[in-house]
Amino acid sequence: MAELLKKEIDEALQGTAIAPKMGEETLLYKKFYIESYGCAMNFSDSEIVASILKEEGFGATTIMEEADLFLINTCSIRDKAEQTVRNRLHIFRREKKKKSGALIGVLGCMAERLKAKLLDEEKLVDMVVGPDAYRSLPMLIQEAESGQKGINVLLSREETYADISPVRLDNNGVSAFVSIMRGCNNMCTFCVVPFTRGRERSRDAGSILQECKALFGEGYKEITLLGQNVDSYHFTPPNEIDQSNSVTFALLLERVAQIDPKLRVRFSTSHPKDITDDVLFTMAKYPNICKYLHLPVQSGNTAVLQRMNRTYTREWYLNKVKRIKEIMPEADVSTDLIIGFCGETEEEHQDTLSLMDICKFSLAYMYTYSERPGTLAERRYTDDVPEATKQRRLEEVIAMYRGHSLTQYQASVGQTFEVLIENTSKRSEEHWSGRNSQNKMVVFPKGNYDLQQGNYVMVKVTNATSGTLLGEIVSI
Ligand code: SAM
Ligand code: SF4
Ligand code: F3S
Repeated sequence: MAELLKKEIDEALQGTAIAPKMGEETLLYKKFYIESYGCAMNFSDSEIVASILKEEGFGATTIMEEADLFLINTCSIRDKAEQTVRNRLHIFRREKKKKSGALIGVLGCMAERLKAKLLDEEKLVDMVVGPDAYRSLPMLIQEAESGQKGINVLLSREETYADISPVRLDNNGVSAFVSIMRGCNNMCTFCVVPFTRGRERSRDAGSILQECKALFGEGYKEITLLGQNVDSYHFTPPNEIDQSNSVTFALLLERVAQIDPKLRVRFSTSHPKDITDDVLFTMAKYPNICKYLHLPVQSGNTAVLQRMNRTYTREWYLNKVKRIKEIMPEADVSTDLIIGFCGETEEEHQDTLSLMDICKFSLAYMYTYSERPGTLAERRYTDDVPEATKQRRLEEVIAMYRGHSLTQYQASVGQTFEVLIENTSKRSEEHWSGRNSQNKMVVFPKGNYDLQQGNYVMVKVTNATSGTLLGEIVSI
């Protein structure tokens, strides 16, 4: 899944005073400040948290100094992610000291992994709340206000927050995340997610469709369906005995695409072992389902994939990519790679480079292996590739990726794409930025057209770097 760095609550919510509920004297009108780290699911969860707090009369602020409640939604995927959070917590604590009665809460995967340790050893925080326990946040706040430490890290087999309408914390009003499932049942040996997020469960399909329709009604034009492994989405309505009435991911995707041809649909993340022809044919059938797949491979060598317990081989992966291109020749594929996993030899590393050379990924998230306490890899294998070797191999992988992405982007010069306008370009007020169906960023002059965020335009590409297409509007 595409990993994001720090993101603060956006301008859209700034100053949005959410009135306290009438008749509730126990809760004062207070403001919360939230920072989110890690994957898109965490950012989506922060929107659920914002909704739960709003119901309790809390208002959001993007200005830390204004807050009474400091929240940090955390990630445990690599050691560095946890270090970043620890550094931020020290800053929160300095801020908290300036305001009597202020509280600090740690949410998300690190809360789940470290549990009470965060309260006892680090003494930096007042509340620790795991990803399935956000409904208990108001109660934990009350406990913390009365001087106790609040903790709930229970994982659930049912919780999907299906009935909660997230408060959108994004800033463009064009693109939104919609969680369709939680947890993960795969046991990739390197990964902490099954321990921090619990068992996989699929959200009620009706509630997903309702949320997507509401978003389109509010003006959103792009929805990304989220899950750690979206292809294993499977929802059977309660009391339904006939499994043929179940909703698979392909069917869900189709129903979301049918909401309106002007609503773009994306999804993340797909697991190579689970993605089906049904999904690929559904993608091909609907022009508004974006022709882009994030298909993490992790390694190009079958023995390494086995040690990772990815349950596919190099050949299986290459066949999947071939199949994608057969069904949708225009589709782009991106990936995640872990460099220097336990026992990775020079030959095994070369296999990753050669797989990259065949697949020519349009985008790749590349990480050196970071051993995580409690994972299967930590128990079974030795983290024996020296740090310097990991770094050198990572540089080789990055160099290869850069070469491919430049060639790929340059191959778009002369082509015309439909682009959804997302924002004014960061570099120039005179330019729009948006993405094409293949998820490539396109920047182009605003010209004299009467356009705004959320409009679609046809843009002809005139130039390219390894990460951006530059072009001109040819029609609106
Ligand atoms: N569910 C997705 C899948 O299976 O492809 C991946 C989700 S994970 C949150 C995002 C990425 O983090 C993984 O694809 C992997 O490349 C990377 N990752 C996970 N554990 C890691 C570790 N221990 N060290 C380095 N990278 C790791
Ligand atoms: Fe982690 Fe594997 Fe699940 Fe992805 S599929 S979240 S890498 S265990
Ligand atoms: Fe996501 Fe990090 Fe948790 S990648 S699921 S926030 S460990």
